[in-house]
Amino acid sequence: MINGLDVKANEKQFMMLKEYIDSIREAQGVLMQTLHKAQEIFGYLPIEVQKFISYELDVPLAEVYGVATFYTQFSIEPKGKHKIGVCLGTACYVKGSQQVLDKLAKELNIKVGETTSDGLFTLEATRCLGCCGLAPVMMIDGDVYGKLEPKKIPDILSKYEE
Ligand code: FES
Repeated sequence: MINGLDVKANEKQFMMLKEYIDSIREAQGVLMQTLHKAQEIFGYLPIEVQKFISYELDVPLAEVYGVATFYTQFSIEPKGKHKIGVCLGTACYVKGSQQVLDKLAKELNIKVGETTSDGLFTLEATRCLGCCGLAPVMMIDGDVYGKLEPKKIPDILSKYEE
């Protein structure tokens, strides 16, 4: 299955999630809390995890899926080892962050929101990262790169390719 999860191989993680659900079952807003916890445990929310949550909380799968896909903090796709976030806030945009994003997409051969087939990089567009003086800006994991130009991208990526 595409982006599926081997339930047997991840039994320990499912047990952790079950324990968490049992501890908050009576509280308000349990679905959001459970999705957060599940994403923390699994790194993303594959269909097997959504089904498990649906069953455990007795919430329709469509509702679980709806919440998991509505909020940007959740992902139903696995994320890459390195997360690249290119700022498309106003200051960065007017200084050419779209061209930086396009260059990254070309170099990595993926679209925004996708992960490379080797699982190394996920490319995302973000809102203002709070360092507009360095526009255009991107972050890779916790590292900030400012005053970017498309031609600098290959060198920057190569640092993460080892
Ligand atoms: S607009 Fe890009 S850091 Fe603020």
